[in-house]
Amino acid sequence: MELLKGKTALITGASRGIGKAIALKFAQEGANVAFSDLNRDENMENTEKELRELGVEAKGYASNAASFDDSQKLADEVMKDFGRIDILVNNAGITRDNLLLRMTEQDWDAVLAVNLKSVFNLTKAVQRIMIKQRGGSIVNMSSVVGVNGNAGQSNYSASKAGMIGFTKSIAQELGSRNIRCNAIAPGFIETEMTRKLPEDVRKEWIKTIPLRRPGTPEDVANVAVFLASELSSYVTGQVINVCGGMST
Ligand code: NAI
Repeated sequence: MELLKGKTALITGASRGIGKAIALKFAQEGANVAFSDLNRDENMENTEKELRELGVEAKGYASNAASFDDSQKLADEVMKDFGRIDILVNNAGITRDNLLLRMTEQDWDAVLAVNLKSVFNLTKAVQRIMIKQRGGSIVNMSSVVGVNGNAGQSNYSASKAGMIGFTKSIAQELGSRNIRCNAIAPGFIETEMTRKLPEDVRKEWIKTIPLRRPGTPEDVANVAVFLASELSSYVTGQVINVCGGMST
């Protein structure tokens, strides 16, 4: 299938993990892929190579999604290199977990800047482009922790809940321009982010999942393809949980 043929996607934080899986699935569906991450490192070069091997145009950009100026520059460069942006996936994210008693101001500010301000930065940077193109799809990577909360993750949860409010507002603002905006709320997905968790915490999490397994980055990427493509042409302002039934 080539559900995304002729489209160009911009995905943040996609040198590894869920972002990379989305980039690869998009490429398999025929999309050209521009992606960002903090540095041009081995991960970025490998991802770029794997994408090009799928026969699409692909380029990685070193760009900090938390920076307003970097985000504007990124959108400008992608337009120069690819000529259009049809899909934006705001995927870059970090955790700085701690109980509120021990959480520092730096932990709070860093998580809000990378997870939430980035969504404002990039959406604002592509808004005019999508309006001019008379359409677009924006997919924001939230979390079940943004939907339900989680002890020890108040900063992360607040940032991910904020993304949901932003998603619903932008869907209402830009719907008349044929620009859709939806969020994905993954549950427990196996990536480097979750590999940091102690084994006992991991086991406890898995017990709470009706499907009794962690999700894979590909499980999330499949839903991203749906939201990015015309398959979801009448879906906007929604949050889709991809969590094995953990949150119902
Ligand atoms: P990851 O840590 O494996 O990958 C995140 C990528 O974002 C990394 O390549 C990192 O370098 C990049 N990044 C970090 N800060 C950045 C910045 N300021 N600018 C540009 N890139 C930056 O994480 P993973 O698991 O792939 O997560 C991807 C997204 O999915 C995140 O937003 C995360 O919060 C969300 N998520 C992940 C879940 C999981 O269980 N792994 C569950 C729910 C949501």
